[in-house]
Amino acid sequence: MLLRMNIVILSGAGLSAEQGLGTFRDTDGLWTRYPLEKVATPEGFAADPALVHDFYNARRANMRAAAPGPAHEALARLSRREGVTLVTQNVDDLLERAGAARVIHMHGELSRALCHACGARWDAPDVMAPDDPCPACARSATRPDVVWFGEIPYHMEEIEAALVAADLFVSIGTSGTVYPAAGFVELARMAGADSLELNLEASGGRFDEVREGPASRIVPAWVAQIDGE
Ligand code: APR
Repeated sequence: MLLRMNIVILSGAGLSAEQGLGTFRDTDGLWTRYPLEKVATPEGFAADPALVHDFYNARRANMRAAAPGPAHEALARLSRREGVTLVTQNVDDLLERAGAARVIHMHGELSRALCHACGARWDAPDVMAPDDPCPACARSATRPDVVWFGEIPYHMEEIEAALVAADLFVSIGTSGTVYPAAGFVELARMAGADSLELNLEASGGRFDEVREGPASRIVPAWVAQIDGE
C-alpha cells in the first residue's frame, strides 16, 4: 500500500507523553503548572530570562533522561521511506534518537540554542543561563532555540509544500488547538489527501478516520499495517 505515497505525519506532545515528557493541556499538563505567558513568550523572556532558562533547563534534563518509545521507533523506520515527511510540534529529540531520517521541528528544538542578537545557533548545553556569552558574537543574548507564542514557526514553506502534495495526512498526539499546525489537516484535505488521526482520544478535528489509544500501541500498529502491505 505504501508503494509511492506522499505521507505527511504531524506529531504533538502525545507522541512523547509515555516517555515521561508530559503534554501541555492534559490534566497535569505543563500549562496547568506554569503560566505560559511567563515561560513561552518573548515578553516573558524579556521580563525574567532566568525563569525561562530554568523552565527549559528542566525540560531539557527530562528529555535527555528519557528514551524513545515504540511509536518513535516505528515512525523513524517509516521516515526512511521515500515520500514520508515527519513534522513535529515537539521540541524533543526522541525521533532523531530513534533514528528518524529527518524531522521538521516547526517549534524549534530543546537541544539547540539561539543568539537573539546575531542569530547564531549551536547545540545547547545541559544548563543555560541569561549571561551565557554567544559563541559567535560574545554578547549575553542566548535563548533556547524554541518558537514561543507570537513568534513565527519554522520551516512553514517546506511544510505547506509537503501538505499540498500529500496523499495521506496523519496527526499523532496533538490536541489540534494551536495554529498553524491545527490547520494542516484542512490544507491537506483541500489538496485531496486522506486524513487519519492517531490520538489517546479524538481531538474533534475533521479526519476521515480516527483511531484512539496510546501512541505506543496504535502508532506501531498503523506503521506495521501501512509498511507491511
Ligand atoms: N498517546 C497518544 N496521544 C496522547 C497520549 C498518548 N499516550 N497522551 C496524551 N495524548 C494526546 C492528548 O489527548 C492531546 O490530544 O496528546 C494531545 C496533547 O495535546 P497538547 O497537550 O495540547 O499538546 P500539543 O497538541 O502538542 O500542543 C501543541 O501547543 O503549547 C504549544 O508549543 C506547544 O507544541 C505545543 C503546541
